[in-house]
Amino acid sequence: MSKLAELAISAQGVTVSRGDTLVLDGASLTVSSGEVVGLMGPSGSGKTTLLAVLAGLLVPTSGDVSIGGDSITRVGDRRRSAIRLAKLGLVFQGDELLPDLTIEENVSLPLRFGRSAIGSTTDSREMVRPVLEQLEIDAIAERLPEEVSGGQLQRAAIARAIIHRPLGVLADEPTTSLDGEASRNAMSLLIGLARASGSAVIVVTHDDAVAAGCDRVLTLSDGQLRSPLRDHRL
Ligand SMILES: Nc1ncnc2c1ncn2[C@@H]1O[C@H](COP(=O)(O)OP(=O)(O)OP(=O)(O)O)[C@@H](O)[C@H]1O
Ligand SMILES: [Mg+2]
Repeated sequence: MSKLAELAISAQGVTVSRGDTLVLDGASLTVSSGEVVGLMGPSGSGKTTLLAVLAGLLVPTSGDVSIGGDSITRVGDRRRSAIRLAKLGLVFQGDELLPDLTIEENVSLPLRFGRSAIGSTTDSREMVRPVLEQLEIDAIAERLPEEVSGGQLQRAAIARAIIHRPLGVLADEPTTSLDGEASRNAMSLLIGLARASGSAVIVVTHDDAVAAGCDRVLTLSDGQLRSPLRDHRL
């Protein structure tokens, strides 16, 4: 694997102001394919803002973000959306499944609208079913989102984020609707599935157990990223 291919997510000097607040003040990070990075920090420190910038959902005031070597800050909205769909999988707080599609149809969406790294000829059902089984939501595949539990919805969102084997997975740990253990299990499943497909992962977590499962943890405070802990990987 070339060095270029390994570098999945790169942010350099990202600055974001929201109102009078300087939320991100020159934050930089690089994440390689297959690497799992935990993102921690107090409430309001800018974790969700940083993920939104990395996902191309929010354009920073200054700085650059590249996904797989493609800048998403120096391009137009259409190109930015195309890169997001093809190269990223997102699990965001309050992110909803489409209400009129079944769980299986929702999970299949990235295969239809993003360009799968595996090729477009593969039958999506063949790809989706095993993932639903791994997440133990295969029995509710034909149901609509309103007909399943909060935990099942969360696992469906995880399946949708990883189904197209994206270059990068960005996950904002849900703080509502799931109890601590269910949320921890869901994040562990996400990390395991993303590792298996070689994705670079950034997971926002408040949970030390989830952080311990990461290769590296970064803490956001005063708009900057810091490495408070040694690598868990020897
Ligand atoms: N749409 C917005 N408009 C203005 N300010 C915002 C907006 N969204 C967030 N902020 C502010 O930006 C700062 C960072 O918010 P952000 O949601 O990124 O924090 P966070 O670290 O994800 O917090 P939490 O752990 O509570 O989810 C906060 O001061 C917040 O009030
Ligand atoms: Mg947040």
